[in-house]
Amino acid sequence: MKLFLDSAKEDEISYALDAFDIDGITTNPRHVQSAGKPFMTVIRNIAKLVEGTEKTVSVEVNPHFVTYQDMLTEAEKLAAISPNFVIKLQCIEPAFKVARTLAQKNIRTNITLVFSAAQALMAMKSGAFFVSPFIGWKETNGEEVRSFIDDVVAIRDNYGFTTEIIVAAVRNGRQIVDSAVSGADIVTAGLSVYQEAFDHPYTHDGIRRFSNFWDQSLYE
Ligand code: E4P
Repeated sequence: MKLFLDSAKEDEISYALDAFDIDGITTNPRHVQSAGKPFMTVIRNIAKLVEGTEKTVSVEVNPHFVTYQDMLTEAEKLAAISPNFVIKLQCIEPAFKVARTLAQKNIRTNITLVFSAAQALMAMKSGAFFVSPFIGWKETNGEEVRSFIDDVVAIRDNYGFTTEIIVAAVRNGRQIVDSAVSGADIVTAGLSVYQEAFDHPYTHDGIRRFSNFWDQSLYE
């Protein structure tokens, strides 16, 4: 089970690489905007942080590009910047052909903004390296998401697709565990989601209690 950091902030990425040895990074236009620097600067700086490793950085094509040719041209330009880059394509019809073309050129893609198992199926058939079903947005919309993850994993397994499933827009530890139990390959989440998930108030309560006992005992 791989854990990706969903962020474009260099300080957060460096921290998560050091603290959790995160396995990869996903960015999106919202993260780039909040990083506060131009898109190209942000992605080049992130590329330097993982240079020489196998860790992937998912970099999203300009969302205004909605034709095959525009998406393809931009994807090739981004892929040339770093061997770590996986090109994020929004899940619209031309993206499937772009993914097929890029796969033939050994350029990896991440089909993103996936909200149905049918979309995920087509992404896998198109040779996407990653597919990103978004669960947080669906849950906010009142939709049940556990069966969504299960369906995407079952489709991958039934047909032996090699596409890795990144459960995206993950908001808490329960969703991380649900994704792991369902057999998803990866989750991507923000730094605070991981920090909260890997912590528990009882741990701190226990530290307080045990410190108290410790203080009442002799060391030697
Ligand atoms: C995943 O690749 C996306 O960047 C991300 O999970 C989008 O969702 P969010 O920005 O609402 O968390």
